[in-house]
Amino acid sequence: MRFDIITIFPEILDSYLDETILARAKSLGLIEIYTHTPREFATDAHKSVDDKPYSGGAGMVMMFYPIAKTIEKIQIETSSLKTKILLMSPTGIQFSQKKAKVYAKECNHIILICGRYEGLDARLEKIVDEKVSIGPYVLAGGELPALVITEAVSRLIPGVLGKEASLAEESHNQPGYLEYPQYTRPEVVNWKGKEYKVPDVLLSGNHAEIEKWRKENAVQGE
Ligand code: ADE
Repeated sequence: MRFDIITIFPEILDSYLDETILARAKSLGLIEIYTHTPREFATDAHKSVDDKPYSGGAGMVMMFYPIAKTIEKIQIETSSLKTKILLMSPTGIQFSQKKAKVYAKECNHIILICGRYEGLDARLEKIVDEKVSIGPYVLAGGELPALVITEAVSRLIPGVLGKEASLAEESHNQPGYLEYPQYTRPEVVNWKGKEYKVPDVLLSGNHAEIEKWRKENAVQGE
């Protein structure tokens, strides 16, 4: 899977992308992630990518051409891939685990456009496949949403998670439960006058009972 992220703040993304499971997945060649700045296609000496809105109003609007030309540049290099172009926007369709699975299955290339919210030329919506929101709240821009989508999709690419985590992921995929409570040493924790014990059944070694307990105590997910 290849990800191309278009942002005026590539350095914000790079530090996250160079750590975590994403760095490991990149080094194993399972995913490729590139960041691009639309400033490359700015035409003035200041490398501006935004301008005043027509009809007035507060703030600036990101211009059509620097972003459109960045998309075009990426597409020239990736013409053999199955691409989805996503525009990060709080008014887009809600991103979900289900959606992450669809992307992981149906394409092998995602272009993510990080706009500054309330400041993107509306014609850019015409040249993307989907407008995507990561939740019903407004962020300053699309950088965090792009990282969220990149990580959620990458985790689903075979080999990106270690073996144990992949098995846990399979259980996540079963409808009805997402995860069960887990504990590690010590057996008893004392905190602010209270005692918290690991449930006896987990110390019992009785696998059938443990499995039953896990199912009963699983946390519901989508
Ligand atoms: N840009 C600003 N807020 C956003 C959100 N919630 N989802 C996606 N992009 C955004």
